[in-house]
Amino acid sequence: MKKITIALDGFSSTGKSTVAKKLAKHLGYVYVDTGAMYRAVTLYALEKGYVGNSESNFDALVDDLPKLKLAFKVNEISNNSEIHLNGENVEGQIRNLTVSGQVSKVAAIPEVRKKLVEQQQQMGLEKGIVMDGRDIGTVVFPNAELKIFMTASAEQRAQRRYKELLDRGEEISYEAVLKNVKERDYIDSNRAASPLRKADDAIAFDNSDLSFNEQFELILAKVKEKLQA
Ligand code: DC
Repeated sequence: MKKITIALDGFSSTGKSTVAKKLAKHLGYVYVDTGAMYRAVTLYALEKGYVGNSESNFDALVDDLPKLKLAFKVNEISNNSEIHLNGENVEGQIRNLTVSGQVSKVAAIPEVRKKLVEQQQQMGLEKGIVMDGRDIGTVVFPNAELKIFMTASAEQRAQRRYKELLDRGEEISYEAVLKNVKERDYIDSNRAASPLRKADDAIAFDNSDLSFNEQFELILAKVKEKLQA
């Protein structure tokens, strides 16, 4: 059966990863959350004190890049693929506000992007992949057969993120989450190295008023069109 590459890009907390995961399971494809890769590098930079202080030391992070090993491994219990940094499962440590507050800065470093993009392109060599991120349709897989660009209002996205963080037991205000969402939108869209933008041939979905199932079915219909093409 023909296999395709599916690129899912968009702003933070648009629900990309939930749709991407379900799509990959449905199709028997590999799912890659590229945001987790940028988050894992940020966790490393925080642990080393390269970011998070008044002065960031990006040069030291760039020097350390060759020794950073990122890998996804399937968690046998949840059946989800989880990110490992230098052999340690860091999935549970990368989604808090400390990492979220620094990740856009780290993701704007060209050397970091180069390393991660190369690894992402390797993962997609055999197609049959659903990858979500910011630059998948524009930089990582410009020839992807299907490109989706997801948007929703900043307030709706902050509300979703806020609920996720509360469910995980974090003490946080909605206002702080909204501020972080808006800051990341700004930095991600305005950075010099592969800024977030819709690929010309991507299909845009504003999912503010769509249920998860409606959204999933719409995207699946697009996949089927491509598989028959
Ligand atoms: O999808 P996410 O919120 O987990 O992504 C975390 C950050 O990583 C986000 O602020 C932008 C950055 N990112 C990126 O620059 N390029 C990608 N392909 C994926 C994420």
